[in-house]
Amino acid sequence: MSDLRDLYQQVILDHKKNPRNFREIEDCNHMAHGNNPLCGDALVVYVKLNDDVIEDVSFQGSGCAISVASASLMTEMLKGKTMEEAETLYDNVHKALTGEDGGAELAGKLEVLGGVKEFPARVKCATLSWHTVHAAMDNEHDISVTTE
Ligand code: FES
Repeated sequence: MSDLRDLYQQVILDHKKNPRNFREIEDCNHMAHGNNPLCGDALVVYVKLNDDVIEDVSFQGSGCAISVASASLMTEMLKGKTMEEAETLYDNVHKALTGEDGGAELAGKLEVLGGVKEFPARVKCATLSWHTVHAAMDNEHDISVTTE
């Protein structure tokens, strides 16, 4: 288990140090602000939908290693997905991290995020960007999401 923890830590630190898709999408058609008022971490998520497909997704902002790494992994996972596929991923991440509905297994790169459930206080960090992208895709406009 400690090897696995080391791996999780390495992946999280790599994404924190070198976040993927850390930029604004100027011609995005969906965006949302997410923030955790307990720590002050705040992210903006940008989505460019082309019909039903996520053509591009990115984020900016500042946060702890887990929130930034989770956002970075999320953008990698969602690019090219349909809305329905994205919704399924969102549900799985939520269930895997909260244990709701018996939990869920996360495959591939997202397996790293599943490791966060061992640290309940950090689950909000890992879900911040996912709640934010979910809100962005639900609305055409700029909205705010708060996790506490
Ligand atoms: Fe703020 Fe992690 S400590 S989101």
